[in-house]
Amino acid sequence: SAKPVIFSGMQPSSDSLHLGNYIGALQQWTKMQKDYDAFFCVVNLHAITVPQDPAELAARTRRTAAQYIAAGIDPAKSTLFVQSQVPAHAELAWVLNTLTGFGEASRMTQFKDKSQRNGADAASVGLFTYPILMAADILLYQAASVPVGEDQRQHVELTRDLANRFNSRFGETFVVPEAQIQTGTAKIYDLQNPSAKMSKSAETEAGLIKVLDPANVTRKKIMRAVTDADGEIRFDREAKPGVSNLLTIFSVLGERPVDAIAEEYAGRGYGDLKKGVAEVVEASFAPVRTRTEELLADPAELDRLLAAAAERANEVASRTLAHVYERIGL
Ligand code: ADP
Ligand code: NA
Repeated sequence: SAKPVIFSGMQPSSDSLHLGNYIGALQQWTKMQKDYDAFFCVVNLHAITVPQDPAELAARTRRTAAQYIAAGIDPAKSTLFVQSQVPAHAELAWVLNTLTGFGEASRMTQFKDKSQRNGADAASVGLFTYPILMAADILLYQAASVPVGEDQRQHVELTRDLANRFNSRFGETFVVPEAQIQTGTAKIYDLQNPSAKMSKSAETEAGLIKVLDPANVTRKKIMRAVTDADGEIRFDREAKPGVSNLLTIFSVLGERPVDAIAEEYAGRGYGDLKKGVAEVVEASFAPVRTRTEELLADPAELDRLLAAAAERANEVASRTLAHVYERIGL
C-alpha cells in the first residue's frame, strides 16, 4: 500500500497494561492506524533477555495482544503479531550483530542501566544485543518511522547507523527510519509518588492503575492518590504534581481541556475531583476489560488472528531478508 510504514513493539512482561501505557502508547497507536501501514509486534524474543517463567510468558503474550485489540488496535487495519512467529527477526538480528561494533553496542545506555540493577555479570549477552534485535524488527518492514518514547531514541539512532552502514557496504537495501518521538503525549505519574512516572517497575503497586484491575480496586487507588495541603484545584506541575497528574488523566481520558475541568471543580474538594477521575477511568477501561475477557475466553480465535497477522508479517519480512542474504552472498 502507499501508506507509510510504522513499526512499534511491546514486551509481554506484565499481566495488565497500566494507565501510562494506555495513554502514552495505545491511544496514540489506535489513532495512527488509519494513516499508516502499522506493524505492532509483541516482542517475546526481547522479553527472554531477562529470565521468564515459560507458562507465564506464553499467557502474557496472549494477554498483551488481547489488550491491544480490546483497546482499539484493529487486526483488519494493522498487523498485530508475535515476534517469535516470524523467524526473520532472529535471522536479520544475527546479520546485524556482525555489522555492529562491540564498542558501539557497549555505548547503549539502557543496557548499562538494566544490567547494573542485577550486576553486570548476571546480565545475558541477549540483553547486551537487545538494541540490535530491535534494529532488525524495524528494518525488516522498511519502516519509515518508529513511534517511541524518548528513552528509545538511542536505539533508533543505532538502527539508522546500521541501515546506512549496510546500504553503503552492500548497496541500497533498507529504508533508514526516523524516530517519531511522542512529545505531545501526556506523561502519567505514579499516584503515590507523582514525581516518578507511572511504571510497572515501581516498588509498590499502590500508585499503579492497571487496565485489567476490577473497578473497585482502581477506584480505591485513585481516591488515595497523593495530593497536597493547599486544597486548590489547579494545574501546576511543579508545585502541585499530584493534582496536576489527576487533571491530566481526567483531561486525556475525558477529552476535555485541563482548564475546563479546573474551572468546573473550582472551590470543590479533592475528593470530588478524584471521583470524577475514577469515573472517566472506569468509562475508558470497562469496555477494554470486557473485550479482553471475551478474547481470552476464545484462545483459538485469538491464536488464529495472531497467526494470520504473522503470515502477513512473514511475507514482508522474508522478502527483506532474502534481499539481505543476496546482497551479502549468503
Ligand atoms: P513501563 O515503564 O511500565 O515499563 P514500558 O516501558 O513497557 O512501560 O512502556 C510501553 C509504552 O508505554 C512506551 O511507549 C512508553 O513510552 C509508554 N509509557 C510507559 N509508561 C508511561 C507513562 N507513565 N506515561 C506515558 N507513557 C508511558
Ligand atoms: Na520500561
